[in-house]
Amino acid sequence: MASLARVEAREASEAEAAKAEQKARQEAVQAQIAAAVDAAVAEERAKAEDNAAEAAPTSPGGGGNVAPDIDWNAVPATDLTLFYPGQASFEWVQNGKTHGGARPLTKGGDACTTCHAKEVTAIGTKIVAGGEIEPTPIPGKRGTIDAAIQAAHDDENLYVRLQWPDAGHNPAPFIDGGKMDPDNQVKVAMMITGTGIEMGETTGCWASCHADNTYMPFDPGAEAIAANADVAGRLEAKDTITKYLTESRTKVEVKGRRGKAQGGWDKLKPAEEIDQLLADGTFLDLLRVYADGSSSNGYLLDRRVANDGEMAAEASLSGGVWTVVFSRPLKSGAPGDVPLEPGKVYTVGFAIHDDYAAARFHHVTFDTSLALDDETAQINVSKQ
Ligand code: HEC
Repeated sequence: MASLARVEAREASEAEAAKAEQKARQEAVQAQIAAAVDAAVAEERAKAEDNAAEAAPTSPGGGGNVAPDIDWNAVPATDLTLFYPGQASFEWVQNGKTHGGARPLTKGGDACTTCHAKEVTAIGTKIVAGGEIEPTPIPGKRGTIDAAIQAAHDDENLYVRLQWPDAGHNPAPFIDGGKMDPDNQVKVAMMITGTGIEMGETTGCWASCHADNTYMPFDPGAEAIAANADVAGRLEAKDTITKYLTESRTKVEVKGRRGKAQGGWDKLKPAEEIDQLLADGTFLDLLRVYADGSSSNGYLLDRRVANDGEMAAEASLSGGVWTVVFSRPLKSGAPGDVPLEPGKVYTVGFAIHDDYAAARFHHVTFDTSLALDDETAQINVSKQ
């Protein structure tokens, strides 16, 4: 009993210390963002005086071009720590052999955050250093990114702003030139979970992250993909397999017993069934912003589909802080767009591809809740 009490006391004080450290880091990030915002505002003022004309406020100071009427100062920020996930796939998290939380996750209805909300930093720091779920580490890469996320809406649109500190360049040793995506120093993604996805609400992005995707351990390779011309054609796949939902396959191998490959890239359901899933809202809505402010609005179901959905975005680096703002209609009615309605709580996930990264070499959030005008959601999309 005495030793149990000692363990509990130690765990409590460790948790307290971790919380304090997290808080201090987030405050430092907030201070850095505030300084960058002040600098940008001052720069705009100076420009306006130079031109002796009214300068339109640009991000990160004012509403910018994407959200000109949004006063970001009035929108509360949610501090989210994005962590480096390595090769921890949807199969990996469901397999009791690899993941301690597999059973409560698959059978008990627990969410990733039920168990991991407080240890995001520890997990990211450990994985990025290399090991079982990161066989090709990038030396110097950060394990976590502290980001401030704000969301607002008017009668038509959703507006989201992410801000986070830039970090130095650490070349990927397995890529010529060290930059996986030399055109994009950063990219931002937000996914919104649709309906009818098994564990969709509790796992967020993980529902689409499979062990046979690009740079994942069971990536089938170009030859095997080419050898299955029918499926390859339907997936428009050449070298690798994009993210997909288990719902789009007749079978997905989770345990990988007797040397079976994990995943199910080639077990594609017939096209009519995929069409029905799309019509039923069974997909992950995927909004993407690139470093130059260009964007794409698509979805994940049988593969990653860029469907030219309505979306606007801008991205900038100022005072060592990245600011990305994007918007899309609350309800576009278009296939592949999750309609955002008052009174509903959505599971979303964010990803930042930092430092010219591509594919899985990103930082991500666990399941995150988002709702319109609802203070109980992690991200409260407030009306303006
Ligand atoms: C019921 C609790 C529980 C749930 C739910 C849960 N996990 Fe875990 N997770 C664990 C335990 C226990 C470990 C092993 C911890 C250790 O080794 O220190 C672990 C380990 C991990 C690790 C490896 C961490 C490391 O230090 O190497 C990752 C990554 C991870 N979980 C991701 C997830 C994701 C993603 C989800 C949701 C899809 C999830 N977990 C849901 C309990 C849980």
